[in-house]
Amino acid sequence: MTDTAHRLDGRVALITGSGAGMGRAHAIMMAERGADIAVMDQSRDGAEETAKACRQHGRKALVFAHDIQDLDANTKMVADIDRQLGRIDILVNNAGIGGGRKKLEDIDEALYDTMFGIHLTGHFFLTKDVVPGMKERRTGSIINISSRWALTGADNSSHYIACKTALLGLTKAWAKEFAPWNIRVNAIAPGGVWTDMVLKSAGEAHIREEEKKVPLGRWAQPEEYAYAACFLASEESSFITGQTLSPNGGMSIVGI
Ligand SMILES: NC(=O)c1ccc[n+]([C@@H]2O[C@H](COP(=O)([O-])OP(=O)(O)OC[C@H]3O[C@@H](n4cnc5c(N)ncnc54)[C@H](O)[C@@H]3O)[C@@H](O)[C@H]2O)c1
Repeated sequence: MTDTAHRLDGRVALITGSGAGMGRAHAIMMAERGADIAVMDQSRDGAEETAKACRQHGRKALVFAHDIQDLDANTKMVADIDRQLGRIDILVNNAGIGGGRKKLEDIDEALYDTMFGIHLTGHFFLTKDVVPGMKERRTGSIINISSRWALTGADNSSHYIACKTALLGLTKAWAKEFAPWNIRVNAIAPGGVWTDMVLKSAGEAHIREEEKKVPLGRWAQPEEYAYAACFLASEESSFITGQTLSPNGGMSIVGI
């Protein structure tokens, strides 16, 4: 590996939900590797904190604070990024919520709509806004953040898994559709990451128990996913499209 491996010099990355967790880790590592960053999150404080960390690496960082379900705000954001940073080369469709472990009988229409609105509809139409610029420049990397559960299934989470599985379908569909413009589309399917999302929904004691089942004996830190995102964003993955990368400490080989 050379010292230019995974470098992202001169690129511009838009990362949704980058005010915390894995999105923040992607943003900071991409800035460290030379990219300017558009930080998007519904939490302004979280987004500002991420942007500050990106700027410490000498990169430009813009902040957009709105709900990914606000499609007009997304369209305006893409135009603002084009105006201020000149382009979007990397799009990470990351923003998400846990949705809680719920039996089918307990999932009402409001929760269903919120899950689909955030994970799917918001990112579907944001991608629609971003792709024309990528086509014009004949380059781009789109990374959809799915979940290990979309590969394995899990009980009491069908509203979440339906969205995350649809993102894998979009990954393959868009990979085929955009390949003629050299736009690559891949997915990351995380499983077992120490972030606020799981700490809030599962709690630390439960996570410590779950860690015992993992072949590598632990859950991941968000940065371990940022390595995967930087790889998929960089030229080192130039022949990879339509694929899903699932860093999961070996959970898939023992079927958990
Ligand atoms: N942590 C895990 O173990 C795990 C496992 C599988 C998949 N994922 C997925 O990874 C992605 C990142 O999760 P995380 O664990 O880093 O979570 P996190 O809660 O730490 O971070 C998610 C960020 O998204 C933002 N966000 C949530 N809803 C939003 C909305 N409507 N509009 C704009 N921003 C919004 C939040 O404010 C937060 O900053 C999510 O899509 C999640 O489903 C996480």
